[in-house]
Amino acid sequence: MRVDELPTPALTVDLEALERNLDRMASYCREQGLRLRPHTKTHKTPELARMQLERGAAGLTVAKVGEAEVMACTEPEEILVAYPIYGAEKLRRLAALARVRRILMSLDSEITARELSAAAQAQGVTFGVLVEFDAGLHRCGLQTGPACVELAQSICRLAGLKFRGLMTYPGNIWGTERERTEEVQRVAEAVQKVLTAFECARIPVEIVSAGSTPSAFLSHKIPGITEIRPGTYVYNDLNTCYQGLCQLEDCAARVVATVVSTAVPGRAMIDAGSKTLSSDLLGSGPKQGYGLVVEAPEVKLFKLNEEHGHLDLSGTDRRFRVGDRLTIIPNHVCVCVNLQDEVFLVRHQEVIGSWRVAARGKIR
Ligand SMILES: Cc1ncc(COP(=O)(O)O)c(C=O)c1O
Repeated sequence: MRVDELPTPALTVDLEALERNLDRMASYCREQGLRLRPHTKTHKTPELARMQLERGAAGLTVAKVGEAEVMACTEPEEILVAYPIYGAEKLRRLAALARVRRILMSLDSEITARELSAAAQAQGVTFGVLVEFDAGLHRCGLQTGPACVELAQSICRLAGLKFRGLMTYPGNIWGTERERTEEVQRVAEAVQKVLTAFECARIPVEIVSAGSTPSAFLSHKIPGITEIRPGTYVYNDLNTCYQGLCQLEDCAARVVATVVSTAVPGRAMIDAGSKTLSSDLLGSGPKQGYGLVVEAPEVKLFKLNEEHGHLDLSGTDRRFRVGDRLTIIPNHVCVCVNLQDEVFLVRHQEVIGSWRVAARGKIR
């Protein structure tokens, strides 16, 4: 089947762009001596995780226990759950998984560490643990080096847990190249302070996990980090593109949609709304609209209902007709993927297969 025969709306993945994105990140990490532990929250697809592992990824990252359960089938060397998991049922499932796969957890409180230790002891397993610190995003993570040392010491005393190192999510590295470069400096200082506290306390730190897509290729400017966890880079999206991190042709995941109504003057409606694209606004570049119309970038996708995408035609001479097919690059690809049952794989405009988005909706 050709792409223009696919029933719409459909999320397509251009395999050549995807392979280029995977190769670029894998070779950067190899050159810099950094381990790559990609976050699978973007693609949620074991087949793609396998492609990452084949290119040398040192394990996988997930946010949810359900994602870890899905990704376990790819047999990664280790799964990092980069989220402070709390709750007996989830910890029981995680401990069950730890019987067959090596699991590394991140956390930033003694309460979470104690619960994790109890779950580990109940099933006779051991979790590796990373202490999360805040390098400027102000989302999760302890605020000072000494606070991290104190939590690491508690972890060392808890049965079923092994302190392995530190984690931070540098989501504050975002924006133009200048903004990102300035923020990298602040993150580097925060990392250094925490590492110094561990040196003073003579506690060895095996892993320092950082990284995201906007910060990925600046990681060599943060001394001390041992691995990065970018996720979005596999597909890229409009947010990545407007930060200058990739070109439009590197946006591998695109929604194919059909014009279903032109009855209202100056408007055209497409069959991709918020249930396909998500309502996430653009956080970079013009910070407006719900995606880029590839065939007519001057046309604004300015509003979404659940099943309708509203196009404003005031800035174009192009005539739109019911049945026209358009390609949309989503603002934020992770949430868009999470709305799809499957993605369609495209090579040279031919649909050559599909992947089930097996970890979609795994929010627990
Ligand atoms: C803890 C953590 N690590 C890594 C990532 C990957 O970041 P990105 O999608 O920008 O590559 C995320 C994304 O939200 C995250 O929350």
